[in-house]
Amino acid sequence: MPKTVKARHIKVIVAEGRKGGIGKTTTCINLATALSRAGYNVGIYDVDSQGTLAKWFNNRVNKKGIKDDPYYIPLDQDNLADGVDKADKAGFDFLIIDTPPVEAKYLTHVTTIADLVIITTKPSGGDLDAVTDTVRAVRTAEKPFAFHISETRTNSVALIDTMKSLSSFGPIAGNTRTLDVFRELFTYGDTLFEAAPNSKATLDINSMRIFVEKFFNGDN
Ligand SMILES: Nc1ncnc2c1ncn2[C@@H]1O[C@H](COP(=O)(O)OP(=O)(O)OP(=O)(O)O)[C@@H](O)[C@H]1O
Ligand SMILES: [Mg+2]
Repeated sequence: MPKTVKARHIKVIVAEGRKGGIGKTTTCINLATALSRAGYNVGIYDVDSQGTLAKWFNNRVNKKGIKDDPYYIPLDQDNLADGVDKADKAGFDFLIIDTPPVEAKYLTHVTTIADLVIITTKPSGGDLDAVTDTVRAVRTAEKPFAFHISETRTNSVALIDTMKSLSSFGPIAGNTRTLDVFRELFTYGDTLFEAAPNSKATLDINSMRIFVEKFFNGDN
């Protein structure tokens, strides 16, 4: 009798964008927490040598005493696929991986283990140029992707133009409006769910979470 291979349950989301400071790490921490609060078991991991996501998690543990919302999974960068299997067996539903802003050894590799790549950009021409490079790399790896537009202003011309340009490449997972409190999140190990739970930006993050759930349920 052939041995039945159990399908992998865990979904790997990789946050990409080949430009600095466009909101990749911010996407990771808020989306991970949104999924965690919706009842999923969520792991996060940082392949960016700047270590912003890992530092955020340390602040979260040390300053807030939170270590499981989401969990930081210390994977082996040279053996990511194995680490994903282990996280799957450990019962994780999602693994969200943060990446560096420039092409680097681990960025190319990490794309190959993604089930969904979220490409973040700000709604400005200069930032949009970087999207083309990122889309090209993700298409080469034959991975599905969706866009996240960060630091938006409702109904601004820049946002409308950006949405028009991006939708010719692929779906938009969400927009996150500009809010000063975002800039405090790293220092205190917070997410919007603690720092501004009733803000419209928190609704934005939850909309992106719903996009992700629908994507993996095949409803998008
Ligand atoms: N919606 C928002 N409103 C206001 N500030 C934001 C928003 N999203 C992100 N920021 C701020 O923009 C800055 C850059 O965000 P972040 O560190 O997530 O970008 P990044 O793409 O991960 O950067 P890097 O390429 O250096 O890793 C941070 O100070 C963050 O707080
Ligand atoms: Mg970052």
